[in-house]
Amino acid sequence: MVPPAATVTGAPAPTSTVSGHPVGVLPGPDIKDPAKDTILTPRFYTTDFDAMAAMDLQPNQAELEAICEEFRKDYNRHHFVRNDEFIGAADKLDPDTRRVFVEFLEQSCTSEFSGFLLYKEMSRRIKTKNPLLAECFAHMARDEARHAGFLNKSMADFGLQLDLGFLTANKAYTYFKPAYIFYATYLSEKIGYWRYIAIYRHLEKHPESKIFPIFNFFENWCQDENRHGDFFDALMKSQPKTVNGLASRLWCRFFLLAVFATMYVRDVARKEFYEALGLDARQYDKYVIEKTNETSARIFPVVLAVDKPEFWRRLEHLVDNNEALAKVAASGGPAPLQALRKLPHWAANGYQMVRLFLMAPIRSDRFQPAVR
Ligand SMILES: [Fe+2]
Ligand SMILES: [Fe+2]
Repeated sequence: MVPPAATVTGAPAPTSTVSGHPVGVLPGPDIKDPAKDTILTPRFYTTDFDAMAAMDLQPNQAELEAICEEFRKDYNRHHFVRNDEFIGAADKLDPDTRRVFVEFLEQSCTSEFSGFLLYKEMSRRIKTKNPLLAECFAHMARDEARHAGFLNKSMADFGLQLDLGFLTANKAYTYFKPAYIFYATYLSEKIGYWRYIAIYRHLEKHPESKIFPIFNFFENWCQDENRHGDFFDALMKSQPKTVNGLASRLWCRFFLLAVFATMYVRDVARKEFYEALGLDARQYDKYVIEKTNETSARIFPVVLAVDKPEFWRRLEHLVDNNEALAKVAASGGPAPLQALRKLPHWAANGYQMVRLFLMAPIRSDRFQPAVR
């Protein structure tokens, strides 16, 4: 299945830029150029499908079957239906808020769609050899298609749409072996859950900051992400090697750090969006990181020492370096000269990441003994 919006935008675009419409074509939403790829933009993944197909689920078969049964119930089948609240809502935003909100929609739509592509491809490639896993991935692809389509419809309210067909064909795919896919997608599902629910609960208390009706949908929406995260939790339990031993402890630390640091730097750089919702980007991220870290201790063998001030101090250094890099990029000039000026900031980022990685982690069995 292709998300509804992808069908619409998958048609040959008049141009790939936000420009006028050719003669004879009814005006519709403009096709927006996908944001430039940076280390902070959502990635598209691919993996070793044969290894996935050959995976023996026996060690945790019962839990995976129970999760698949939950997916079949399709709790949000009737949830993503647009109502009258959307009519005219886009026109109420001032130009600055509109800009940051559209960026938020684009980023969210791209990550939801990246999930859809990976899950869909996974379910297609392992269908005959590993039917239980394939079915779970198909249900998750269904959910992500809905999420991406719903976000893309909101972009249309602003006269824009992401060309998901173009994105599918032209985005660079990052290869990860299955265990790394599990760490990365588990984290992105759980962090997605905490991000959506934190915004939803905040806006419940501050309805005056609800700048767009899409936020009304976040409560049920985040339950989809939570279920997807639980699926990867169960999948990792069925493959005990992925969460036991020294290598897995190191990789879990790496993925936790990469996901948290990327989100922090990106969100602080876009703090205006959070301000528009009446949120402080730093406080919001601190809450989401702490919660995701705590949740991850249910399955990861170690989690990060986010209770240490050093952790946050070093993230702030990353923010400063990122701002300096953005200034160099904005100043223009020949590419080799830019690279030379960026070098010290890249080195400083590398240094901070190494120091963060070397911070002593917390053993999850001590952190969350009750659930382990
Ligand atoms: Fe999603
Ligand atoms: Fe998800």
